[in-house]
Amino acid sequence: MIEEIKRLKAAKNAVLLAHYYQEDAIQDLADYLGDSLYLAKAAAEVSSKIIVFAGVHFMAETAKIINPTKKVLLPDLNAGCSLADSCPPDVFAAFKAKHPKAIVVTYINCSAEIKALSDIVCTSSNAVRIIESIPKDQPIIFAPDKNLGRYLIKETGRDMILWDGSCIVHEAFSFDKIVALAQQHPKAKFIAHPESESQVLAIAHYIGSTSGLLNFVQNDSADAYIVATEAGILHEMKKRAPQKTFIPAPVSDDTCACSECGFMKLNTIEKLYLCLKHELPEINLDPSLMAAAKAPIDRMLALS
Ligand code: 13P
Ligand code: SF4
Repeated sequence: MIEEIKRLKAAKNAVLLAHYYQEDAIQDLADYLGDSLYLAKAAAEVSSKIIVFAGVHFMAETAKIINPTKKVLLPDLNAGCSLADSCPPDVFAAFKAKHPKAIVVTYINCSAEIKALSDIVCTSSNAVRIIESIPKDQPIIFAPDKNLGRYLIKETGRDMILWDGSCIVHEAFSFDKIVALAQQHPKAKFIAHPESESQVLAIAHYIGSTSGLLNFVQNDSADAYIVATEAGILHEMKKRAPQKTFIPAPVSDDTCACSECGFMKLNTIEKLYLCLKHELPEINLDPSLMAAAKAPIDRMLALS
C-alpha cells in the first residue's frame, strides 16, 4: 500500500500534508510534515491539484479555505477534534454577543463556522505574537482552549475572556504521575504543549507548540525528556535527536492510551490509500462561509 500511495500521489499530482500526531508510517510518507501553522502555510503554497490532509477535520477545512481551488481530501471524515467540538457556533455567537467590544481571537483548532465569527486566528506557534499585536486597551475573547488561553494570559499579561473548551488528550496528563516519573529520571527535562492544564505547565522546563518542542529537544543540552503532548511526536523527536531518550508523559487513566489522539489516529495507511485511489472523502464548504473564515486566517498569516 505504501508503494501504491507513492505511485498514486505522483500519478494524480497530489501532495500529502501530515501532522506530527499521525502514525509513524504516514509521517514518513508526507511531502509536508509539521505543526498547524506550518501546514496552513504549506496549504497556501501548494500548486498540485490535490491536497491529501493527514490530520483532523479542522486542518483539512483550513487548507480548503486557504486554497479553495484545490481538491482537499481527508482519509477519515470522522477525524474530528474534542477542542473544536467544545465550541458550538450558535452558543459561541451568543457568548460573543455578550461582549460586543471584544476582539475575537480563536485557536486554529475550531470549525470554519467559529473562524467565520473571529477577527483573527492563531496557532500555538504564533499565539503570543498575535495577542501582543492587539492594542493593550482592547478587550479580547479567546476561544476555544481555556488552557492555552490561561497560558497566554500569563505570558502576555493580558486579561482575556476565555471560552471553556479543552483537548481531551492534553487534559489526560496526570500531574502526580509526572512528578513521580520526574523523580525516577532526575536528569530528564519535562516539556509540555500549552494545551495542557496549568498545574502541568507550571512544572515544565519548556512549553511550546509541536514544532517548538521539536526544536527544543534538538538544540537543548539534556539527554532525556518527559514529553506531555500527543505521543505521535516521539517519532520525529527520535529522528531529530537519535542519541536522546524520550518518555511519554503518563496519563491519569492506566487503562487507556490517552496520550494518543483517537481522532488523529483514525487516519490509517489503508484509509490513506483508499482516499487517494477514490479521491474521497472530499472537504467541501459553502463559498460564503469560506470567505468569512478566510479573512481571520489571512490576518494570522500576515502576522506570522
Ligand atoms: P500544533 O502542532 O500547532 O502545536 O498543534 C497541536 C494540536 O493539538 C493539533 O491538534
Ligand atoms: Fe484536537 Fe486534542 Fe486531538 Fe489536537 S490532540 S486534534 S486538540 S483532540
